[in-house]
Amino acid sequence: MRTGQLFLFPPRRLYEELGCWGMQRKREIEVVTGATDGIGKSYAEELARRGFSMMLISRSQEKLDDVAKSLESTYKVETKTIAVDYSHDDIYPKIEKGLAGLEIGVLVNNVGISYSYPEFFLHIPDLENFITTMINVNITSVCQMTRLVLPRMEARAKGVILNISSASGMFPVPLLTIYSSTKAFVDFFSRGLQSEYKCKGIIIQSVLPFFVATKMTKIRKPTLDKPTPERYVAAELNTVGLQDQTNGYFPHAVMGWVTTVLAPIKLVLCLGLRMNKAQRGGYLRRRKLR
Ligand SMILES: NC(=O)c1ccc[n+]([C@@H]2O[C@H](COP(=O)([O-])OP(=O)(O)OC[C@H]3O[C@@H](n4cnc5c(N)ncnc54)[C@H](OP(=O)(O)O)[C@@H]3O)[C@@H](O)[C@H]2O)c1
Repeated sequence: MRTGQLFLFPPRRLYEELGCWGMQRKREIEVVTGATDGIGKSYAEELARRGFSMMLISRSQEKLDDVAKSLESTYKVETKTIAVDYSHDDIYPKIEKGLAGLEIGVLVNNVGISYSYPEFFLHIPDLENFITTMINVNITSVCQMTRLVLPRMEARAKGVILNISSASGMFPVPLLTIYSSTKAFVDFFSRGLQSEYKCKGIIIQSVLPFFVATKMTKIRKPTLDKPTPERYVAAELNTVGLQDQTNGYFPHAVMGWVTTVLAPIKLVLCLGLRMNKAQRGGYLRRRKLR
């Protein structure tokens, strides 16, 4: 369905609509979590380019200040920042205070972390903390940010929430099992919530990218199937309002179709296991050599 929809709808409408919002909604502010790097930074730039004021949220105040300054000087928009670490679950009163009184038009729940290398569940270093951290950053952040922002969207009967899941949430990925499971949660959460709030004028979209060339993936040379975050986000924004669930970028939509419609799940699991075992072996060998 995902890919079919992308084939059916030429990617153009929302791009124009978002532009219009920029003109109509000058008082609004758009919120991006994990906004200082990679995909989140690109969302912040794309939205600022359309004239939106931006609320940037990440861990490091220094990096937040750099991105905010760059958006203000390049796009002449207002920016605000909140520095919090999403691996903790006691940060939400601080975020609530920072968002108080603001009209939020778009929330991009982007913040997320993955493994530093693929690993068997019981071999993950510091497993107990790893589980808590990944659940807090990848799952709790999405639910809690939505809790803070959705009531005002519901009251105004408009708003957009983009939840950045992952293609790893479309099927289990062995040796990245916790990451893959957290991203499946984000996908289910988004789709369930979209059904609840669609009739109230709110768009909630589940975004499931394959590889994008960011710090997280350590991909330095972008290719057609592993695009830069800028290219990915520009394409993804074209699908907002057209697709509740999207791979966001045409080559990724084709990959999504192959892995979920064409290939049997047993084969996908087997190839994932083999690929990640090879990556794990390479990583551990390199680490021994150092
Ligand atoms: N890249 C891909 O191929 C890919 C594919 C599928 C899905 N995704 C998803 O897309 C999202 C963005 O990924 P990315 O590749 O752009 O990641 P990235 O390049 O590593 O950027 C992550 C951003 O999140 C912030 N961040 C990390 N940990 C944080 C924490 N504990 N508290 C607050 N902020 C934190 C980082 O800023 P600071 O370090 O300054 O805090 C940075 O701004 C994630 O949800 C990821 O799962 C990525």
